[in-house]
Amino acid sequence: RTVYLNGQFVDEQHAHVSVFDRGFLFADAVYEVSAVLNGRLLDNDAHLARLARSCEALQLTLPCPLAEIEQLQKRLIVENQLQEGAIYLQVSRGNSGDRNFDFPDASVTPTFLMFTQARPLVNHPNVQRGIRMVSLEDIRWQRRDIKTVGLLAPCLAKEYAHQHQADDALLIENDLVTEASSSNAWIIDEHGCLITRPLSTHILHGITRHALIELIRENGLQLEERPFSLDEALNAREIFISSATTFIWPVIALDGKTIGDGKPGKITLQLRDIYVRMAN
Ligand code: PDD
Repeated sequence: RTVYLNGQFVDEQHAHVSVFDRGFLFADAVYEVSAVLNGRLLDNDAHLARLARSCEALQLTLPCPLAEIEQLQKRLIVENQLQEGAIYLQVSRGNSGDRNFDFPDASVTPTFLMFTQARPLVNHPNVQRGIRMVSLEDIRWQRRDIKTVGLLAPCLAKEYAHQHQADDALLIENDLVTEASSSNAWIIDEHGCLITRPLSTHILHGITRHALIELIRENGLQLEERPFSLDEALNAREIFISSATTFIWPVIALDGKTIGDGKPGKITLQLRDIYVRMAN
């Protein structure tokens, strides 16, 4: 694979980052994951806008203007002949030559890297199969709206899920669902109304979530942006999660309880079809 690191396109074997990089020592870095379908970036303007917001929240300098980043992303997609999958990009506060909590002075430039990941999006097996989830206390920090690489809590959550015969964890705070470990969470009630938690610092402002809200409105489906409880989720007609790397995955079980009839929900699959048609 060809990867991008600090201005150069190199084979992954030749891309090296310092042990003193603040991304490595302090998780002092932000990231974005954009989906690639038919060799084209999906909703990338929104991903780059969020990158700018994450950087601003952490007083991190963007490595270059967003339009230039997009050109680099496009070149990397071509270099790797990526048709379907994702492009990952990360900006860290750079290498300050030692371990020191204080921000380095302005002469230290950010470390900027990107790589591609080939994976099925449209026909992922989890779409027909559905996934199983378990609930778990959300122990993440209080600025989940910033997309940082401090992802130990989600790693622990996924491991917990796997150890409990599930695919992913639904994160709970004060009896309310925040989101899934790396995606936004949705339920559909008995009236067919789609419910997802409103934007705040408690959740990542998902780009897929935003795109789905527009499609839901355009297609005359019912929508409520409000917090919902674990109990509501357990009794929902359908549950699904959304992200750039899943689009939409139906949830067929939560904490061992079957959701709906134990098959991917009708409205969930219908919305996914609408999304894929738009994305194609
Ligand atoms: N995760 N919530 C969390 C905690 C996430 O990590 C993600 C994305 C989302 C969905 O956001 P979007 O629709 O913009 O992808 C919600 C990415 C895919 C990841 O960490 O790999």
